[in-house]
Amino acid sequence: MGFWKSLFSTSDRLSAPVKIQQEGRGAIAAEPRIVFSVDRELDLYELEELCDAVGWSRRPLRKVRKALQHSFLVVSMWEERPARRRLIGFARATSDHAFNATIWDVVVHPQFQNKGLGKALMKYTIKKLKSEDISNITLFADPQVVEFYRRLGFLLDPEGIKGMFWYPD
Ligand SMILES: CC(C)(COP(=O)(O)OP(=O)(O)OC[C@H]1O[C@@H](n2cnc3c(N)ncnc32)[C@H](O)[C@@H]1OP(=O)(O)O)[C@@H](O)C(=O)NCCC(=O)NCCS
Repeated sequence: MGFWKSLFSTSDRLSAPVKIQQEGRGAIAAEPRIVFSVDRELDLYELEELCDAVGWSRRPLRKVRKALQHSFLVVSMWEERPARRRLIGFARATSDHAFNATIWDVVVHPQFQNKGLGKALMKYTIKKLKSEDISNITLFADPQVVEFYRRLGFLLDPEGIKGMFWYPD
């Protein structure tokens, strides 16, 4: 966790590679680092690969493109090396642009899970929403990740409020 933390860059745009000083070692230029972006022009095939990696069912790319275009915020997380960068995390939010936002499609590539990166991705997403003066952030948690969101401060059924769903027959 400490290692990854030292590599986080929370700039909106991918910044130029910098030398990274690691404990007990000299400055290393070629070490990978983790960066965030809010650029919504993503390679949809790369995003699909990421979603495939966690076993999500495929969605029509034209609908994914539309969803990204119409999202309020699109956050991607990258492992950046001098020669290439790789999409390793993603989240997006829809919003009324005033009071409410709902976070969707939170994912970290399995090779990068359990290192604090999901938490960093969520914190970055929340920070961005707060900077837009959004005060009410909601999400729908799969049962196996309720605890992940709870640790980030999300409440389950606050004051008894229940999420309700309508599906076509
Ligand atoms: C859920 C997910 C985004 C978490 O990402 P991650 O990088 O593994 O999470 P982190 O390492 O940042 O974990 C942060 C904290 O949450 C805990 N945590 C992570 N996943 C958890 C889980 N499934 N259940 C309970 N706790 C969990 C960690 O132990 C850690 O606790 P700590 O702060 O006390 O150390 C990732 O597992 C994932 O992409 N899963 C598949 C897709 C998915 O289910 N998305 C959510 C859809 S609602």
